[in-house]
Amino acid sequence: MISQCSKVLRSGSLLKSMASIRTWRCEVPYCSVGASPDPGPTGTVCHTPVMLKEVLHYLDLQPGQVVLDMTFGGGGHSKAILNTIPEITLLALDRDPTAINLAGDLEKEYPGQVKPILGRFTELLPLLSHMKIKERSVDAVLLDAGCSSMQMDQAQRGFALSKDGPLDMRMDGDRYPDMPRAADVVNTLDQQALASILGAYGEEKRAWKIASAMVEARRSTPITTTQQLARVVAGAFPAAAMYARKDRLNRPSHVATKTFQALRIFVNDELNELHAGLLAAQTALRPGARMVVITFHSLEDRLVKRFLQGGDMSNLDEFHFEQKQKKAKFLRGPKEKSEHWTAIKRKVVTPEKQEMLENPRGRSAKLRIVQRL
Ligand SMILES: C[S@@+](CC[C@H](N)C(=O)[O-])C[C@H]1O[C@@H](n2cnc3c(N)ncnc32)[C@H](O)[C@@H]1O
Repeated sequence: MISQCSKVLRSGSLLKSMASIRTWRCEVPYCSVGASPDPGPTGTVCHTPVMLKEVLHYLDLQPGQVVLDMTFGGGGHSKAILNTIPEITLLALDRDPTAINLAGDLEKEYPGQVKPILGRFTELLPLLSHMKIKERSVDAVLLDAGCSSMQMDQAQRGFALSKDGPLDMRMDGDRYPDMPRAADVVNTLDQQALASILGAYGEEKRAWKIASAMVEARRSTPITTTQQLARVVAGAFPAAAMYARKDRLNRPSHVATKTFQALRIFVNDELNELHAGLLAAQTALRPGARMVVITFHSLEDRLVKRFLQGGDMSNLDEFHFEQKQKKAKFLRGPKEKSEHWTAIKRKVVTPEKQEMLENPRGRSAKLRIVQRL
């Protein structure tokens, strides 16, 4: 069903009715690579790299090696790598032009060491080949999945439930003018398709009710802003349930949180992208090289775990159905290996309590560390 929705969205029919491309450019005036996470004068907040100490430790980089940061974002992890390891070459990929501008700044700071690459995981291998980087040659990969704070905190990007902005959510910004925004999804798909998206990508139990509320609301006015959507979703819940859900720090969580997650994953095709990213890393890494993967929600983590174990990846849209299955131990076989990977650490690494308090956004992070066979 979701793949069908994806096809519908990617076909021209929906897109013809889309508004003309906005020329808005994401400005991150206060956010430079490695800047503090304090809000700037414009309210911009920089991205705080998650489990930085652990990432540096587990990547185990040596001077002169080539490391691929597949999710450059605000460049926090990348900058720490460049600061710590002499003569490292850093390949800095991101699908967001704003992030790649920051990688350009870092290139000026470390001339000859940083190679910014604008593109998606699905585009990575041709991009590397174009740069004459051979398969099985990269010494380490970092993949820190999901969104950056720079994306979340810019109201105009339309990711955040807490900030009013156009309902956009495209990580690529305006790179692909035909790419549907979240507003196109909620205003165009039928109730069944919307419910499927919310169920599959948000693991939202009230998916059908929320989808019905969206369809009802858009009859009078299209849903075009984040706050409008938050209100529509809230309308599908009894008043008492509004903040009854709790996050991992036991703080009240808005009832629309899962809906926002689902739409973001759908708009950016995040699960297919993640799978493609893991496959590309598998091709790019040399035998013996390490990969560190950080995920932020259970769909991502289950996908990564299954991929590394060499499991069946044919139905990425149905990962939510596995929730209640007995937990399989990560790479636990007679030799703790899959065909392509072995675990450096079998247990998942999570942020220390202090880090969770200092950077609540990273509270749900899970880090896995493997070695290419
Ligand atoms: C959590 S942030 C990374 C933060 C970074 N490690 C730091 O320290 O600032 C994730 C980044 O990955 C990028 N990203 C997500 N999916 C991607 C994809 N499929 N291809 C390329 N970049 C992607 C996002 O645009 C975002 O900038």
